[in-house]
Amino acid sequence: MKKFNWPLMSNNITQNDKEILIKFIKSSDKFTNGEKVKQFEKKWSQWLGVKYSTFVNSGASANLVSLKILSELEKNKSEVIVPAFTWSSDVVSIINSGFKPIFVDINLKNLALDEESVKKKINKKTAAIFLTHAMGFVGLSKNFLNYINKKKIFLIEDTCESHGINLNGKKGGTLGQISNFSFYYAHHMSTIEGGMICTNSKEIDSLAKMKRGHGLLRDSQNQKLINNVKSAYKDLNSDFIFFTEGFNVRNTELSAVIGIEQLKRLDANIRSRNKNHELFLKHLRKDIFFTDFDLKGSSNYALHLILKKKNKNLFKKIILALKSNSIEYRIGSAGGGNQLRQPYLKSIKKKYNLKNFTNTEHMHFYSLYVGNYPDLERNKIIKLCKVMDKINL
Ligand SMILES: Cc1ncc(COP(=O)(O)O)c(C=O)c1O
Repeated sequence: MKKFNWPLMSNNITQNDKEILIKFIKSSDKFTNGEKVKQFEKKWSQWLGVKYSTFVNSGASANLVSLKILSELEKNKSEVIVPAFTWSSDVVSIINSGFKPIFVDINLKNLALDEESVKKKINKKTAAIFLTHAMGFVGLSKNFLNYINKKKIFLIEDTCESHGINLNGKKGGTLGQISNFSFYYAHHMSTIEGGMICTNSKEIDSLAKMKRGHGLLRDSQNQKLINNVKSAYKDLNSDFIFFTEGFNVRNTELSAVIGIEQLKRLDANIRSRNKNHELFLKHLRKDIFFTDFDLKGSSNYALHLILKKKNKNLFKKIILALKSNSIEYRIGSAGGGNQLRQPYLKSIKKKYNLKNFTNTEHMHFYSLYVGNYPDLERNKIIKLCKVMDKINL
């Protein structure tokens, strides 16, 4: 694997994490979903400000379980509104749960769905808005949240790459009915692989806990439900009542041990990432790059180089400069840009005119990001900006 002078992520699993994990392995003989998972879920819920959390093996699993839950709660509705600029698992989970994805464009200011476009797509068939808080920006305004609450529209927040954002002091991941997080390696905190489903609803939480573990009733952590169902299904062995369609997307005690450690430094890490981002925006040339982000409440994920205007030659020069300075980058931002251009959506793409996705298309062709992580050196950020200064138009 190529070693970069500036990789997308560095040192996310620390020496201390490893030592704590080794100690746990030596002193324990239960490693699958158990007490440590419960502890991590409780601490995560406290940090986020929700009643319930379910630890799963990835953000993609969190997406899938959430949409499967939606399909049980909103049986008579068929559409889910989603931005074209998101991760594939958001769209795939919509399709796999029997819904039709309704794509909308994004805003460049926060890289999230365009609120006016969403308003136009809401109708009687709308089961939910599946919002992505992209790249550490807050993905919706207070007005829009009020609007969808008034209309009683189900909101699922994908906060997989935006841990710690807040809308007027209320954390992202607490604004809708369900939220999802990822703890994959490059995210704000990591359990190596991992994800979380969060909610304030006991009903949703019970469904999440069961769907995580094969749909088993005994995994629901809901004694009232267990008692009711047991007495209604006297012909079944009460240990093996598969109450809802489920999967096995459990995580392990080992990942939970890392998660508990990582959570202790999450806030400090978010502050460092935000400081790096501020420094980057201060020094980045404004003649060619878009820097007019809405930073209020953000929790930066990565440093963006988004061209203000379409210019293929200039974009090529930027890529060459990154390559020659051994800086890792991702074109099209997280998710590879416009989902509608991906082969898995080729039949759906036909129904859309990509010209109506101006900002998603711009991100697809004229944006990239480089990594931001807590111990990224200031001088590297300043050097990158100087390298960009030297690029001739
Ligand atoms: C917005 C978003 N949703 C979902 C996921 C999937 O998370 P995971 O990689 O943990 O499956 C990602 C992954 O980075 C993501 O960025």
